[in-house]
Amino acid sequence: MKSPVRITVTGAAGQIGYALVFRIASGQMLGGDQPIILQLLDITPALDVLKGVKMELEDCAFPLLTDIVCTDNPDIGFRDSEYAFLVGARPRGPGMERKDLLEANAQIFSAQGRAINEVANRDISILVVGNPANTNALITQCNAPDIDPRQITAMTRLDHNRAIAQLAKKTNSPLVDISRMTIWGNHSATQYPDLFNAKIKNQFATEIIEQQWYESEFIPSVQQRGAAIISARGASSAASAANAAIDHMRTWVIGTPDNDWTSMAVPSNGAYGVAKGIIYSFPCHCLEKQWSIVEGLEINDFSREKMKNTESELIEERDAIRHLL
Ligand code: NAD
Ligand code: LMR
Repeated sequence: MKSPVRITVTGAAGQIGYALVFRIASGQMLGGDQPIILQLLDITPALDVLKGVKMELEDCAFPLLTDIVCTDNPDIGFRDSEYAFLVGARPRGPGMERKDLLEANAQIFSAQGRAINEVANRDISILVVGNPANTNALITQCNAPDIDPRQITAMTRLDHNRAIAQLAKKTNSPLVDISRMTIWGNHSATQYPDLFNAKIKNQFATEIIEQQWYESEFIPSVQQRGAAIISARGASSAASAANAAIDHMRTWVIGTPDNDWTSMAVPSNGAYGVAKGIIYSFPCHCLEKQWSIVEGLEINDFSREKMKNTESELIEERDAIRHLL
């Protein structure tokens, strides 16, 4: 039997946390032969709820779950952690822009970055889910200088999954026939879901769908899907967000198929002319816990403009919290 790995989930008493921790504990992230210690971190007023989550985890009798730590102390929550889901943040409510939350959440992620730097396993793989996720990942990275920046990523897999689902529905295609979907940029309404490289079986998606549907329905509906769910549910997406978080980590660990890629927000190395250092969503190949940006894709003027637009938003977000970097 393998030795247990420590997995941290912040905001574990919240909605996404509740949809996430049971799936991790059942082995859906790392497989059925990997024992797990869950380290659940939340703020002090949420500790009672967290106690209830722990009781339910125990009641599932998951064979892989060897221990559960509940804490409001980041130094305990991140100790020796090998995987961390940074979910805890204040979610956006109806009518609020994500940018409104920038400053409040920046404080949370700088404190957690410092704790990760002090106590986490040096090989920790981090996924930031809490919004604004890309910029929160940048803050975490800047406060964890001893951790390789490549190990700190942010989530656009939900947008990637949403885009695949919309395209499959429109073209009556099985989901598994869709490959090479790309989300560029920020996890926000400026993100650019790119169909020019996407394929449905062996055909380019743009040979099948109409440009009019692509521009006036597909792009806005993927960009606005989070807001549409908030307005329908009165709360932001939770089960689909947790599902995407599992997908992101699992793909990072087990890899992407040779002829496909995923979307991950990672530190830009200047690929495609994107400003170095911002956490920007790119098409990424993964192999054995390493990701690499898929280089050399053709970018037309339509795409270039949209990629620049979402890059500008990320630069603005970075500049707004520069004092915390
Ligand atoms: P929620 O309000 O239900 O839960 C948030 C939890 O975080 C709460 O339990 C809260 O107590 C906790 N928390 C707050 N500050 C904390 C801190 N300093 N340390 C640890 N925990 C802390 O919210 P939710 O629905 O679970 O959403 C969580 C975040 O995920 C939000 O920012 C939301 O906007 C974001 N989100 C991101 C995506 C994405 O695709 N990247 C998708 C959906 C939601
Ligand atoms: C989502 O995409 O569902 C979330 O990020 C919700 C939000 O705050 O936009």
